Amino acid sequence: MTSENKAFVRLVDPIKDTAACLDVCKKTVGPALRTGTPNLISPYIWCLPYIRLCPEYCFVVDDGDGNAVGYVVCAPDNVTFAERFREEYIPILESLDPILKKPPMDPPADWGKELTLGVLQCLYSPEELLHPVCPRLIEEYPAHLHIDILPEFQRKGFGKELMEALWARLRKDDIPGVHLVMEAGNVNAQKFYLAIGYNRFGEVVDGGKSGEVGKEDNGNLWMVKKL
Ligand SMILES: CC(C)(COP(=O)(O)OP(=O)(O)OC[C@H]1O[C@@H](n2cnc3c(N)ncnc32)[C@H](O)[C@@H]1OP(=O)(O)O)[C@@H](O)C(=O)NCCC(=O)NCCS
Repeated sequence: MTSENKAFVRLVDPIKDTAACLDVCKKTVGPALRTGTPNLISPYIWCLPYIRLCPEYCFVVDDGDGNAVGYVVCAPDNVTFAERFREEYIPILESLDPILKKPPMDPPADWGKELTLGVLQCLYSPEELLHPVCPRLIEEYPAHLHIDILPEFQRKGFGKELMEALWARLRKDDIPGVHLVMEAGNVNAQKFYLAIGYNRFGEVVDGGKSGEVGKEDNGNLWMVKKL
């Protein structure tokens, strides 16, 4: 039997799993962020803060030999998470890696031309998690998540298993709903979310610029699920 056959889902162990999870993030992040400095910064936005601030809501796929090969990381409440991100996480960033130094925050970067500046500004903008353009999102769906699995372990049911472990944990705390923000171009992920019970958020969130509900004019989709 190969390790792959014995892979299973378990709670993250921040001491043993952090490096592997950061690696999974770098390898699975959207194509525009797959190389260079933006790739190095990505896990400090979309993976590490969750493992540091709320590990009890983070689960991994263990390959059977103790190695994390996929994860779902989650913040159970965006309001508290954004506060803790600002107060507890931002102050340690530069000590983790000098490339994480705070950039000029104004004017906002043009992501097409200044990707490194864009991701750094994103890292230092946890208030964006409050989605001020549409406060109903986090009133109804206070939790949010990121899920990524290495290619060799995709399409084996682990994505669904990670989600089920997370939903059970959130339900225990009476969290009424969970949301996520994804790139509309990630067609496979969209199929996955729809197959396991997520729906597009039902309100126009960008003043009608995208012409669709649950879609920002930058192309990002808001997916939601009641628990
Ligand atoms: C998206 C992702 C998390 C899904 O996890 P997964 O383990 O591959 O998905 P599962 O095997 O649990 O799939 C559950 C169901 O979702 C649907 N599904 C998943 N991937 C699909 C795909 N590529 N095409 C069509 N349906 C898909 C299927 O209905 C599947 O059930 P089935 O295999 O019995 O038909 C994983 O593929 C991944 O990490 N992709 C790369 C990173 C990424 O895009 N992350 C999300 C960023 S928003």
